[in-house]
Amino acid sequence: MATTSATVTPTGADLQGLAKRHLWMHFTRHGAYDEGDVPIIVRGEGPYVWDEHGNRYLDGLSALFCVNAGHGRTELGDAAARQVAELDFFTVWSYAHPRAIELSARIASLAPGDLNRVFFTSGGSEAVESAIKLARAYHQRTGNPRKTKFISREVAYHGTTLGALAATGISALRHEFEPLVPGGYQVPNTDSYRWPPDRDPLWAADQIEEKIIYEHPDTVAAVILEPLQNAGGCIPPQEGYFQRVREICDRHNVLLISDEVICAWGRLGYWFGCERYGYQPDIMTVAKALTSAYVPMGGLIASDRVAEPFMQGNESFAHGLTFAGHPVAAAVAMANLDVFEREDICGHVRRKEGELRDMLDSLRDIPIVGDVRGAGFFHAIELVKDQGTKEGFTDEESESLLRGYLSGELFRRGLICRADDRGDPVVQLAPTLVCDTEQFEEIENVLRPVLTEASKRVKK
Ligand SMILES: Cc1ncc(COP(=O)(O)O)c(C=O)c1O
Repeated sequence: MATTSATVTPTGADLQGLAKRHLWMHFTRHGAYDEGDVPIIVRGEGPYVWDEHGNRYLDGLSALFCVNAGHGRTELGDAAARQVAELDFFTVWSYAHPRAIELSARIASLAPGDLNRVFFTSGGSEAVESAIKLARAYHQRTGNPRKTKFISREVAYHGTTLGALAATGISALRHEFEPLVPGGYQVPNTDSYRWPPDRDPLWAADQIEEKIIYEHPDTVAAVILEPLQNAGGCIPPQEGYFQRVREICDRHNVLLISDEVICAWGRLGYWFGCERYGYQPDIMTVAKALTSAYVPMGGLIASDRVAEPFMQGNESFAHGLTFAGHPVAAAVAMANLDVFEREDICGHVRRKEGELRDMLDSLRDIPIVGDVRGAGFFHAIELVKDQGTKEGFTDEESESLLRGYLSGELFRRGLICRADDRGDPVVQLAPTLVCDTEQFEEIENVLRPVLTEASKRVKK
């Protein structure tokens, strides 16, 4: 049923009513808006966004780890408009067009080692889905057809399509959709906050080898890992972790997929997260900030070795997505990468991440602050009941702390960040990569009083 006419632009209360009636927001408890307003964001500029009431917010999550170049860059829109005037859309199924070609060559030139072949998608889940299919098809073509399983880490998020979901290690997101695509297995992640002090630092890496051997190396196609794991709260790898994983993968002819949907495009201060940690994947998945999310685009980047069996004679990768490599998205990605190069955004993150980290570390005197971890412009604060014992919160306590107080209060005070309990409760920050000292101070000016008040509430 149409509830608005095409000639009327709804505003204010109309937008609220229409949002509540028609818009199915993702991962959203709609009931939570029965009483209050849906937050409607109407404008963005640099590190800030504004809501429909004119309130300004510091976008401390880059609109879901996406808008790395900051909001409101009209030159990205200009690039889109020029592309529409030249060629609106054409497919990359059997054809090519200049922007997809140029972008694939540019990504290949930036990607480390022999990651030279780019297969575009519309987003991150499709990139992961494509990587899993590619790993299976690669082993089929190279004489190992039983290699179909893929190993990922507990609490890791790799997307929501059924294949990517089988890699996602968050049981609450999986259980209603079972049976999932068979073959997804999880191993422990690198969150060492509560590890026994005498644990071998490469224990988590070795868990991957144990799982490969347990499942049998003849059946394992790939290991899929983020450089720095998002879900669970910005979990960094141990020193040497990825070098050990690389050795394990090589030993068992298992492909290493680096899921860089968040960690690429400057988030960790480098074009790609694997550069920061010094490892060479066989396949990399990207999305989000490839275009700074001004338009949707994702992709996988395969090594020459992985791509080669698909490039000869009558062979092909029997997989495709209509919108993949869309000329408008590719033009925006090119303009986005121009911004990154012109403004040395990766260098800015490397120069400034220490300042962000010092500010977050300075909050450790607040009793509820347990761990502070992360890298680049991507950090989390883990909240605990007791700093000494590292005792965490029960599910109910976490629910009342995060949803009953923190999320709403941080937003009310003008900071968009993520209060998340997919693992232990954390507050996550991933500000746009144009942020500087002024924004770090603003973040502190919100976090300090809100976390202090949260500590008092927990004590009651
Ligand atoms: C590491 C990782 N992989 C895959 C995805 C899925 O991407 P999308 O939401 O674009 O499908 C995400 C989304 O946040 C992600 O963080």
